[in-house]
Amino acid sequence: MTANIIDGKATAAQVRQKVAEDVAEMVAAGKPNPGLATVLVGEDPASQVYVRSKIRACEQAGIESFGHKLPATASQGEVEGLVKELNADPRVNGILVQLPLPDGLDEERVLQAINLEKDVDGFHPVNIGRLAQKGRESLFVPCTPSGIMYLLGTTGIKLEGAEAVVLGRSNIVGMPVALLLVKSNATVTICHSRTKDLPGTVRQADVLVAAVGRAEMVRGDWVKPGAVVIDVGINRVEDPTIEKGYRLVGDVCYDEVKEVAGAITPVPGGVGPMTIAMLLANTVRAAKHQQGE
Ligand code: GUN
Repeated sequence: MTANIIDGKATAAQVRQKVAEDVAEMVAAGKPNPGLATVLVGEDPASQVYVRSKIRACEQAGIESFGHKLPATASQGEVEGLVKELNADPRVNGILVQLPLPDGLDEERVLQAINLEKDVDGFHPVNIGRLAQKGRESLFVPCTPSGIMYLLGTTGIKLEGAEAVVLGRSNIVGMPVALLLVKSNATVTICHSRTKDLPGTVRQADVLVAAVGRAEMVRGDWVKPGAVVIDVGINRVEDPTIEKGYRLVGDVCYDEVKEVAGAITPVPGGVGPMTIAMLLANTVRAAKHQQGE
């Protein structure tokens, strides 16, 4: 059996098209364009690329972007001071502080400084706390996890009662996606570096989310036949046959796993594009909420 390919690029394009239409409608009704502020502290090359892509995507959707950069030497007070300025700026509906922050900054305090209604990344401790609690709803859900849930929705898989395994327990992806899967009534196992029998545990999964950041770690014989496999990894591996000298691979060994899984996201073109699409959707929702809708 060869897996169905879950086309994140096409799904993200549909979401972005809908966002652009929503923005056009808001503007036609005399409302201001929604605005997203990005805060990049330091010069991490991957973070620079991600923030640039987010700003470009905003432009394409009609969302105004306000890009702020601070040096890696910025103090806690400077970063929090900028967040507070953005909280007070009515043109800014959403605030995104790119993570990770440089060493020495207290990430939790920075995230806590973001106005809850502008927390389009969903990382404010209150939003994350609500995600973890029964009967409560976060105002915003982190973008990669909500993109994963959206993609799972396109496969038609029934999450209720499904065995879901999440590989990785990061604050950005692993833990929040596990919480969302619990909210969808899946039975969720979170695997990490101390898990004793990783292949055996992963093999139980009807739904597997791999978010560990280890190139091609999940092999074909780790996967239950017919499982839905979501690969969040974006890892560079050296490849001298390519001009750039490297290629991007996921946390899943795609060539092996696609022969076993029922459906699989490719890398690139799977989860990655969904993160940005969900950020744009959250920003428009924030703008509408702040306009009293
Ligand atoms: N770093 C990696 N992914 C993300 C994300 O979705 N949001 C932020 N703020 N930082 C990230």
